[in-house]
Amino acid sequence: MIVCQCNVLKSCQVKAAITRAKGRDGLTVVTPGVVFRQLGCRPACGICMQHFNRLIAEQLEDRRMAEPERSD
Ligand code: FES
Repeated sequence: MIVCQCNVLKSCQVKAAITRAKGRDGLTVVTPGVVFRQLGCRPACGICMQHFNRLIAEQLEDRRMAEPERSD
């Protein structure tokens, strides 16, 4: 599915860029701007930002669900 019409970016490309941007430790703060840089392009109209934010949030949630619970 195309999530950015201006740059013709598919959701799978954006998801892969989010994964790369997170790095190995997963501690890097990922923003739509970071994802665009990973993909070598820039936002034009900005309408896709909500899709980028949703995909970033989904990956954060997936990571949180995968982590074992802490007993602090
Ligand atoms: S749809 Fe992504 S910048 Fe326009």
